[in-house]
Amino acid sequence: MSETTLPTMTNIDGNIMPTSEASIPVLDRGFLYGDSVYEVFRTYRGIPLFMEAHFERLENSAQLVHMTISQSREELTQEIKRTVRATGASAEDNVYVRYQITRGEGPIDLHPPKELQTRYVIIVKSVPIWNPKHYSIGMTMAIPQVKRNPVNALDPNIKGGNYLNNVIAIMQARQRGADESLILNSEGYVTEASNSNVWFVINDEIVTPGTGNLRGLTKAAVLDGCVEQGVNAYERSIHVDELESATECFVTSATREVMPVYCLELDDGKIVDFPRGGGDQTRKIQRIYRDAIENYLDTHASNSFFID
Ligand SMILES: Cc1ncc(COP(=O)(O)O)c(C=O)c1O
Repeated sequence: MSETTLPTMTNIDGNIMPTSEASIPVLDRGFLYGDSVYEVFRTYRGIPLFMEAHFERLENSAQLVHMTISQSREELTQEIKRTVRATGASAEDNVYVRYQITRGEGPIDLHPPKELQTRYVIIVKSVPIWNPKHYSIGMTMAIPQVKRNPVNALDPNIKGGNYLNNVIAIMQARQRGADESLILNSEGYVTEASNSNVWFVINDEIVTPGTGNLRGLTKAAVLDGCVEQGVNAYERSIHVDELESATECFVTSATREVMPVYCLELDDGKIVDFPRGGGDQTRKIQRIYRDAIENYLDTHASNSFFID
């Protein structure tokens, strides 16, 4: 992954500075306990994609960890806009925005005192440019030993500062020589990749797991786009035993968009091959997602970070 040369800027509670100079106090609970929630989105032509849905998901994550966010959506939106502008970006530059809310700074004590004020950290940089081979050929995936956190332990719908489950998964997949991990739950059902949702074509049907994973906004946009365009794609449980009969595989996320997978290593070492560069269904989904982005941009032009 590489990046273009926009300077990366960070905004901590209203103070904007180059990211290399930004720091937070060691007593911040985000640092001490991973006690934080966050979102990542990107812009197209200066317009933040699915901004409202990102706020909804952030607020849902906060609710799941019993956190009350001190800042309003309006304040955070204004601060994100200021930070984007501070990079010197213009509407033609596509930026990546990561905004994180930590429960704040307090004593070293697991139980957070009531009076804590949440802290926000907004990081803006150029969008990551993935290795072009990850689109022209695709990625490789392997199943790691580690299992996805169960929904009734650390719900994967908490998009929070504790990503160790996913960090271990990607490290184990890389140890097996793969680009990405395909994480199973303890019953052998597919959940997701380390930071994207995963899809398969099985018996000519486009399917993705509905539970045990973060409800990705790219996945939601793809599912809606499929409904609009009369394409049959749906969420269902997928057991690892079905994967040998899968004929296509791809992942979705805000920064990867729709990325094909051409090779999957199962836990017993068996290899399942998929079409290089994505098969017909994967390419169809790429077009559907492109259309979803264009529709969104057409109807949300006034949200541009470059309009006052
Ligand atoms: C664990 C996990 N699953 C799925 C996704 C995909 O979500 P989205 O499509 O909203 O980027 C992400 C992205 O951050 C993620 O971290």
